[in-house]
Amino acid sequence: MKLTNIVTLLTLLLMAAPLASAEPSGPLPLRELADRRGFDIGASVVALPLREEPKYAEVLAREYNLLTVANSLKFSMVHPERDRYDFADADFIVNFGLQHGLRVRGHTLLWHKMEPGWLKNGQFTRDESIAILGDHIKTVVERYRGRIYAWDVVNEAIEDSGGWRDSTWFRAVGSDYVDLAFRMAHEADPDALLFYNDFGAEGMNAKSDAVYEMVRGMLERGVPIHGVGLQMHVQLGAAAWADDLARNIRRLNALGLEVQITEFDVRLPMPPPPDSYKSQANIHRKMLRACLDAPNCTAFITWGFTDKHSWIPRFFGGFGAALPFDEQYNPKPAYEAMSQELGREEVRFEVY
Ligand code: G3I
Repeated sequence: MKLTNIVTLLTLLLMAAPLASAEPSGPLPLRELADRRGFDIGASVVALPLREEPKYAEVLAREYNLLTVANSLKFSMVHPERDRYDFADADFIVNFGLQHGLRVRGHTLLWHKMEPGWLKNGQFTRDESIAILGDHIKTVVERYRGRIYAWDVVNEAIEDSGGWRDSTWFRAVGSDYVDLAFRMAHEADPDALLFYNDFGAEGMNAKSDAVYEMVRGMLERGVPIHGVGLQMHVQLGAAAWADDLARNIRRLNALGLEVQITEFDVRLPMPPPPDSYKSQANIHRKMLRACLDAPNCTAFITWGFTDKHSWIPRFFGGFGAALPFDEQYNPKPAYEAMSQELGREEVRFEVY
């Protein structure tokens, strides 16, 4: 065969060969692994880095199929004055999520923190408070109807002891403010999934018992509640109660409620002691597995995703490094653990 023919044949063969460079290098992004399982892997998002840091936006869109609006939908941020709402940052985050194919969680319609002065100091009557509550929920939820698929309606209403938390709403309306808020949110968007969200109620304890009883009562009264968010802000040693988490999720699922891990982070003493990143990864693995193995745990969401923008150092002096990506957006052992866990079982589809 003439040399020119050999060269032509080789060229044709090379052109037909699959473009190896088109194959992704390294592990698949978390969102792709999660999508294959019909599972949501998410992170909370704040507006400033999303607007100003391309790397923040890039990693968020590549790795996650769900985002929670961290602060921009809180009462003081979105309703700073009685007759003024400010949706600029929330709109930006929600639009970014939807444009990049992420599901969007709204956080949070009612909370004892981040309340504007006009509300906290208003001394309103019960009827006035209910009217304010109704206006707030209607205005905020209707704006994102069909775009925010799930809401943390009430956040942290229960004390560690299991009693009602003393708050503006509890004092003004009484404990039925919770039922009212859920009914108002459902009226504003009948398709949205409505969650009760809290911290310290992940394992089996007085608080999680009280949350269980509260949501059981809500279901008995026909209140439209669809799920419970377990925040799970933890530190080293948490792996010890992963089985309790599994039990708690199962009993909530048995009520017919979804569970989501909504604000996961594992704070480390700084500088991190030897092997602490490995222990942190192990906690990620165990808690994610408890959710994946549960009958109806539908999302695993970290509170932020890079140590560069974590709430921890500011709120827990001497702690930090709580998230799957470091300050330079490099994946940490916790990320690898999540990737392995999400990829653990055979994917639902044949991968050719
Ligand atoms: O936006 C103002 C800014 O205008 C002002 O200049 C600045 C002055 O400090 O404050 C800014 O507001 C801050 C806000 O975050 C937005 O960045 C508040 O001071 C600050 O207190 C607030 O912290 C947030 C905290 O909730 C509120 O208590 C954290 O970022 C946020 O991560 C944290 O998230 C909560 C969840 O919502 C509920 N579960 C617990 C979790 C941790 O507390």
